[in-house]
Amino acid sequence: MTKLKSTKLPLAASLIVASALFTVGCSNDNQVKAVDRTEEAAALARVKALEAQAKALEEGMPEANSSFAPVGDSAAASASIKMPDESTIPDNELGDSIRRGLHLVNNTYTELPDHVGNRLNCTSCHLGNGSEAYAAPWNGLTGIFPIYRSRDARVNSLQERINGCFQRSMNGKPLDPTSDDMNAMIAYMGWLSQGIPVGVSPEGRGFVKVNNELEPNPENGKQLFAEKCALCHGDNGQGQYTEDGGYIYPAVAGADSFNDGAGMARTYKAAAFIKGKMPFGQGNTLSDQEAVDIASYFTQLDRPVKANKDKDWPKGGAPKDVRR
Ligand code: HEC
Ligand code: HEC
Repeated sequence: MTKLKSTKLPLAASLIVASALFTVGCSNDNQVKAVDRTEEAAALARVKALEAQAKALEEGMPEANSSFAPVGDSAAASASIKMPDESTIPDNELGDSIRRGLHLVNNTYTELPDHVGNRLNCTSCHLGNGSEAYAAPWNGLTGIFPIYRSRDARVNSLQERINGCFQRSMNGKPLDPTSDDMNAMIAYMGWLSQGIPVGVSPEGRGFVKVNNELEPNPENGKQLFAEKCALCHGDNGQGQYTEDGGYIYPAVAGADSFNDGAGMARTYKAAAFIKGKMPFGQGNTLSDQEAVDIASYFTQLDRPVKANKDKDWPKGGAPKDVRR
């Protein structure tokens, strides 16, 4: 308890902590000896949570999204990107939906053939169940969306953002935003977002940075692709498949790949993904220039064409690698 007094807290926060101490410590004197150890531990945990909350306030951070956080968990749990333990998925209807979402993102083209026009899964790009840092993870997104996006110059819900990937990355059709399957994906992303404060974009969101001033050299990229990528993704980037049609390695070009309106079809966006994550298991081994060269080659290989790309970025500001 003396430790608390020495903690530097802003006045308001100290008051919160002090009042908590008061509630905890106000049992009358002759009962003190009878204080139950577990109760004491719970009270201490509560004070710790308040301390953390006070610290968060001090740093100007919004309160944690507590919908999945166990009581007493630090409100300012560090915004880390990881796959939570699957055993923490609740054993009820919401849990069933979360599990359905997890299944859908890993088996998208077999489960949702009416909505997917290629042979990719969400997790072909959003690696590790969509919970891997720098592979555009979904942790925290339920506390970040809706956001304004310049591609369509309006505020997008998380459902609309997901449908953007259905229409471009999956070369398919949007899901009904009120459908059970869409809700399952949202429920899964909500579960992934546990412990991440609302409004906080966690470190590792999106991809690593690459220098987009570099001049791409697709000829060099072609050679590097043959050396470093073709072994898994195929000489023409067509992917490799099992007899039942499942992929061993996903297509990065051709009919089974993303269309030319996808983020991954843009040179610098794709370069940022492969710089951080490819060759698989050897992330961050390519230089920025190599990543840009390779990306400028394979993104321009034949692939499905997205209609109406000219309507993207209606208010201008399109990045220079956007396809028209
Ligand atoms: C071909 C690769 C690819 C596939 C497949 C794919 N996506 Fe994406 N997705 C991306 C890229 C690229 C981005 C943009 C990342 C960035 O700019 O930081 C993105 C962004 C997102 C975002 C927003 C992330 C953020 O931080 O704001 C969500 C949500 C998302 N995708 C969901 C999905 C879902 C669900 C599926 C499956 C239906 C899917 N994606 C399939 C490549 C893909
Ligand atoms: C050892 C095998 C291997 C090598 C080598 C490799 N990849 Fe991949 N790649 C994968 C796997 C595995 C995935 C993710 C599939 C999954 O988890 O479902 C992937 C995913 C991708 C994706 C996103 C999904 C898609 O199909 O569009 C791209 C793009 C990609 N790799 C590009 C590259 C490039 C470029 C190189 C060379 C620099 C490369 N890869 C080297 C195995 C490999």
